[in-house]
Amino acid sequence: MARKRYAMVGLGSRSRMFSQALLAAHADVGELVALCDVNQARMDFQNKRFAERFDAAPIPTYGASEFVRMLHECAVDAVIVTSMDRTHDHYIVAAMEHGCDVVTEKPLTTDEVKCQHILDAQQRTGRELTVTFNYRYAPRNSAVKELIASGAIGEVQSVHFEWLLDTRHGADYFRRWHRDKRNSGGLMVHKSSHHFDLVNWWIDAVPQTVFGFGDLRFYGRANAENRGERVRSDRSHGSGEVGINPWAIDLADEPELKGLYLDAEHEDGYIRDRNVFSDGISIEDDMAVLVRYNTGATLTYHLTAYSPWEGYRVGFNGTKGRIELAVIERSYVSGEVIDPNAAGADQPGNEPIDHTRLTVQNLWGKARRVEVDEEGGGGHGGGDRRLLADVFGGRSEPDPLGRAAGPIDGAYAMLTGAAANRSFATGLPVQIADLVSFPGT
Ligand SMILES: NC(=O)c1ccc[n+]([C@@H]2O[C@H](COP(=O)([O-])OP(=O)(O)OC[C@H]3O[C@@H](n4cnc5c(N)ncnc54)[C@H](O)[C@@H]3O)[C@@H](O)[C@H]2O)c1
Repeated sequence: MARKRYAMVGLGSRSRMFSQALLAAHADVGELVALCDVNQARMDFQNKRFAERFDAAPIPTYGASEFVRMLHECAVDAVIVTSMDRTHDHYIVAAMEHGCDVVTEKPLTTDEVKCQHILDAQQRTGRELTVTFNYRYAPRNSAVKELIASGAIGEVQSVHFEWLLDTRHGADYFRRWHRDKRNSGGLMVHKSSHHFDLVNWWIDAVPQTVFGFGDLRFYGRANAENRGERVRSDRSHGSGEVGINPWAIDLADEPELKGLYLDAEHEDGYIRDRNVFSDGISIEDDMAVLVRYNTGATLTYHLTAYSPWEGYRVGFNGTKGRIELAVIERSYVSGEVIDPNAAGADQPGNEPIDHTRLTVQNLWGKARRVEVDEEGGGGHGGGDRRLLADVFGGRSEPDPLGRAAGPIDGAYAMLTGAAANRSFATGLPVQIADLVSFPGT
């Protein structure tokens, strides 16, 4: 069978997961034939890495305005979209209009208007549009889906979900393009679309009404100064704060960060290491949201982006009992994340504390722990590896849990965030049905 010809748009850090898959594990079924980005230096750096790591010949590169020409010239079958969130709609629609299938990173897009354009284009063209919700593929999240689908706790009436981003990972959204809401839709869309998708999928429901509060309470100049802290620079590089200030990252010292961002910034002014306490942040860092679903179930959700540890806790109240999942995704000790493979990681005080705890308790029964087989590991709790096998494996394996996600899933996930954003601004509940109309329904 002929290999499927893929182009990739947006050659930043996330694109690596897909390019590596096509250059190695899934090279038998797919071929990476073209790259597109606004930044030539970034594409050149990726090509250099492909040669070093996979002995690959240079892949043809195209600027953003040459996207459609690229699709023709390189006879592209499918486009992988890993560009900045606010550009997803443009490439998804253009690719489908030109007869290509699309695999897009989350979020599907950043607001309801762009979402409508995507849904209409997909309906018009009939192309396949996959949204890569990798969290569905993490064994612990799949285990919850299996339990609920098997009726272990009866009908789910309510969900209580808290997600914590630590001061390393969470802070990173305040250093780069995500900090401008126009680029990312804020964390409600950029980050929480993962979590809203999980809830939709776990309880097999669609969101109807959303209400929330969201504020910037920790990052940003005003918050820092109100706490009596001085903000000395707009970015880490050249500030003299690297190695002294735990919030400052070192772009010059880390080869990937240097090649992808520092050495490329002269082309497009993309600064990767802005001070998280500088001006210009228009996203929230602390968000509380209520959702009601078509099944009558409710969700109480909280996202915090300045926590000392990272992970999540979710509880499901059903007519026959309760499921609880608690996950610590990584430890955070003395200002540094502990890599379990790093030298010294086994020293006292530095033990990795990643863990998953999944319990089920039926009414009048004892709580029982459910073991989750997380063998194999990998990014996002093993989700990335399994997702790639599904996307590039042509979905030849059965998918009893329905993990593969399409445009409707992508839309409902980002629309919950878009509705929350609107509620933050208006102080009123928002009906999802007022944001978009789903073609064909
Ligand atoms: N599923 C996950 O767990 C996960 C994790 C990380 C990132 N992501 C998603 O992947 C995407 C990329 O994130 P990243 O962390 O790699 O960001 P990044 O900043 O490293 O890369 C973004 C790339 O988009 C390019 N770009 C910007 N504007 C463009 C335009 N108009 N046309 C073409 N290219 C343009 C930039 O030059 C850059 O190369 C985002 O949509 C993000 O939400 C998903």
